[in-house]
This record gives sequence, C-alpha cells and structure tokens, in this order.
Amino acid sequence: MSQSLSLQQLKEAAEQFGTPLYVYHAEKITEQYQKLQTAFSKSDVKIFYACKALTNINILKHVRSLGSNIDCSSINEVKLALHAGFEPERILYTSNGIDFSEIEEAKELGVHINIDSLSNLEKFGKKFGHSYPVGIRLRPNILAGGNLKISTGHDKSKFGIPVDQIDKILSLVATYHLFIKDLHIHTGSEIKDVEVFVQGIAVLFDIIPKFQELEFIDLGGGFKVPYKEGDAETDIELLAAKVKEAFDRHPNPKGKSLQVWFEPGKFLVSECGYLITQVNVLKESTATVFAGVNSGFNHLIRPMFYDSYHRIKNISNPGGEEKKYSVVGNICETDTFAWDRKLNEVREGDYLVFYNAGAYGFEMSSNFNSRYKPAEVLFKEGKMHLIRRRDTFDDLLKNQVAVL
Ligand code: LLP
Repeated sequence: MSQSLSLQQLKEAAEQFGTPLYVYHAEKITEQYQKLQTAFSKSDVKIFYACKALTNINILKHVRSLGSNIDCSSINEVKLALHAGFEPERILYTSNGIDFSEIEEAKELGVHINIDSLSNLEKFGKKFGHSYPVGIRLRPNILAGGNLKISTGHDKSKFGIPVDQIDKILSLVATYHLFIKDLHIHTGSEIKDVEVFVQGIAVLFDIIPKFQELEFIDLGGGFKVPYKEGDAETDIELLAAKVKEAFDRHPNPKGKSLQVWFEPGKFLVSECGYLITQVNVLKESTATVFAGVNSGFNHLIRPMFYDSYHRIKNISNPGGEEKKYSVVGNICETDTFAWDRKLNEVREGDYLVFYNAGAYGFEMSSNFNSRYKPAEVLFKEGKMHLIRRRDTFDDLLKNQVAVL
C-alpha cells in the first residue's frame, strides 16, 4: 500500500510546529527504496541516493539505514554523507565543473569519483596515474528529461565529456595509465520513457570495450515521479527488465560482468515531502481570486523555475465547496504556485499543503526578502520529530560583518 500522511496528521504538524513547514515521511522513502530493490533484484544493481534533492542529516541517516549508497554533487555533500555515517566506499562524488582541489580532497577521503572534464582527467592522471581508480562522466548527446532546464545529456549541455571526444579520453588514459573503473551518464531529470536509458546504454556499449578495467556502469538518476492522479511515472520494473536484457546481450570485455549503478533523487524523496503553508490574504480580482500564503518561491522555487505542478489541498476545510483560486506567495515579485486551481473553499488562516515537496524543495530554498527558511519535521514510526528549527532573526545576521 502506498504510504502518505493524512490531512489530519499534516494539520497536527502545522499546529504543533507552525508554518511554513516541511514535513517528510520516512516510511514513504522506505517504500520507494524497496520498490527499487524489488525491481532490480535479478540484476547486479546498486542504488546511490542523489542527496542534492534533500540533505537533512536525518534523511541521510534514514536512507543509509535502508542500505542505500549515496551520490554527492559537492565536496560538502561528501562530508555530510560521511557525517551521516556512510562509509567512503558507499559514497560517490559525481563532480561537475569543479576545481581540481576538490577532486584531491575527495580522493583523500577515499570516495568514488566521477570526473567530467578532460582538464581534470589530465590533472588526475598527472598526479595519481594508475594508483586510484576513477570514473568518467560522458555526455551521450541524448536529449531527454522533463524540460530543457533539467536536461543534461544533450549536445549543448555543459555536463560530462562529449562522447565524440572519446579519442582524447583514450589518449589521456594511455598517457597516464589511468585506472578507469566506470563510465557514467545522466541524461536528465523526470525521464519517463525507459527507452532513453536503453539509448544511453547503447551509446556506452560502443565505448565499453575500449576500457579494460571497468567494474561498473553508472546510468545516473532521473526517474519520473507522479505529481497528480493518473500522472505518468518511470516504469521501474520495465527499466529493470530492459537493463538486464541489454547487459545480458552484450558480454563485456574478458567475459566480466559489469555492475550497474543508479543515482535517483526525486524517486526516493519527492513524494515523501509536504510543504504546509497558511493563507494570509484572500484577494478578489476580475482575473482570479488570489489565496496569498505565508511562503513563496523562497521556500519552494520549483513552480516558478521549472513550471512544476504541485498538488495543493486545503487541510483546514476539506469538506468545503470547491472553488477556483490562484495560490501565490508573499515575495515582492511574481510568485505563483498555481493559477485557477480548484480547492475546497479557502478562508484566511486556512492551511494549504503542497505535495511532492521533498525533492529540491527545502534544498533550493533561500532567505530572499529576508524571510526565514521553514522548519523541517520528520514523521517516523508514528511520531513527528523536529529535524531543523525555523530560522530566527539572528540567522539573518550571523555571517554578516558589521563594519559601519
Ligand atoms: N545524478 C546526477 C549526476 C544528477 O545531476 C542528478 C540531478 C541526479 C542524479 C538526480 O536526478 P533525479 O533522480 O532527482 O531526477 N532541481 C530540479 C532537478 C535538477 C536535477 C539535477 N541533477 C527540479 O527540482 O526539478
């Protein structure tokens, strides 16, 4: 059965901790992780949680307790993962556009590293030669993903080393006797069509035989999750079957079988998260009725930045007559969460909850307009736990240096 928090549970959280408030449901993360485990049980697949989606240390610890590994996109995420108790061999650092010193630091920490530029690959070769295995992030030149802002594998993307530069890669590998243990691609986020992964695998199969020491292939993340009733999502069972079929059909050099790694972010934590807000102001106009909440794109930037759809419910009046409202934030620029959305009658003071707020919600929040970042709560084993206190006025000033 799919796990979700009831309106009553969310209302109690809002009353107890105040709003705006992020609430995460641990058992939903467990459910999503188990779906992956079950789907991939017949293949040699490892899951690395792409923690850029949500890095609260309690979430990291929960994901770790499930047996997941972790994918990081900065050296600080690597340090958070270590802090959460992940052993270095369970940590992957998929870097992009970073200074070489971060790669050196990651090597010191003993984690897996994917390098995404020829220049860093060369620096790595010069300094470490064959002594430390690394992966190469390739750009497969495949256009995929929910929209252009979250597409990363196409031929104008900054990510990875373009596959057409394979000769340059091979020359560096030969010159410095590099130990290449994986090839990585990540084509984008919200990829619902399993064929995109199959295409990516096909690109890699042309290249795999050129690397004799490969141990695994990393296919990145990007599984699509549903945002509303009947919404399409990546068919994980089908994906698992296709991946198995592809790898069974293409034996690898030296007859060795390659492990497959995935790095899901949204799939693990999007649906576990809720942002609860409270209606400050109702404003009627000829165009629409605005329901202005005590939050904004400073807390959940996805609707304004990616046009993402988040289901909204009025927790305070679930039986109220349905009417149309435009739900907007209180930021000093256009800040629309939803336009002409049907909601149970909204009154000032009502709590509105936004669904699918776990991934890239709090994580992309800011203090724009000098507003506080929300508090975060984890619901686990029937109890609500505060896992981040709301900002206070001191937080706004704490790194500022008063010189005047
Ligand atoms: N691996 C790599 C190398 C990535 O760059 C990403 C996401 C992932 C894995 C995880 O992708 P996911 O499974 O979460 O789709 N902020 C945007 C999404 C940006 C994704 C960036 N990279 C949003 O809110 O839609």
